[in-house]
Amino acid sequence: MCIEDLDKVLQIESASFPRPWTRRHFLDEMESPGSHPVVAVTAGGEVGGYLCLTQVLDEAEILDVAVDPSLRGSGIGRALVDWAVAFCRQRKLALLCLEVRVGNHEAISLYRRLGFAEVGRRKNYYENGDDAILMDLSIAQVEECDAV
Ligand SMILES: CC(C)(COP(=O)(O)OP(=O)(O)OC[C@H]1O[C@@H](n2cnc3c(N)ncnc32)[C@H](O)[C@@H]1OP(=O)(O)O)[C@@H](O)C(=O)NCCC(=O)NCCS
Repeated sequence: MCIEDLDKVLQIESASFPRPWTRRHFLDEMESPGSHPVVAVTAGGEVGGYLCLTQVLDEAEILDVAVDPSLRGSGIGRALVDWAVAFCRQRKLALLCLEVRVGNHEAISLYRRLGFAEVGRRKNYYENGDDAILMDLSIAQVEECDAV
């Protein structure tokens, strides 16, 4: 992700979340050494989606991921999360984790399909009182599955 991507990233962010991140949030992600914000670019050269990942010691967390509403269902979300898993494997991290709003079936289904498991809940976490589901992916388990 670079400065030139931000107008489109902010447009997608506003269309995706009730409390969207601001330009400052994304700039902080771009400037912070432990953070890795990336964009998925379509064949036409447009930003189709993005993912922000942060690494702390041997764990990484997906802080934000969204796809342009007009391009959803075409594999961009999966490609972004696949990138996050590959990042963890390359750096030999132990765990990839995230939080997702209960009832966000598209996202939960994507994460389950990639092997994430529910490991906990935060009650009343979101602005409207929705719970957050905490999900983890064990990178060692991904490696074992690939080895079979
Ligand atoms: C969640 C999100 C990133 C998925 O991106 P996407 O590009 O549409 O996802 P993909 O096309 O790669 O689909 C991957 C998987 O997601 C799930 N999925 C996608 N759309 C779905 C839908 N409408 N209903 C159920 N599952 C769906 C499926 O498991 C799908 O796998 P399949 O295609 O093999 O069936 C996208 O819906 C989005 O931006 N949502 C708003 C922001 C958001 O909620 N982010 C997650 C915060 S935790």
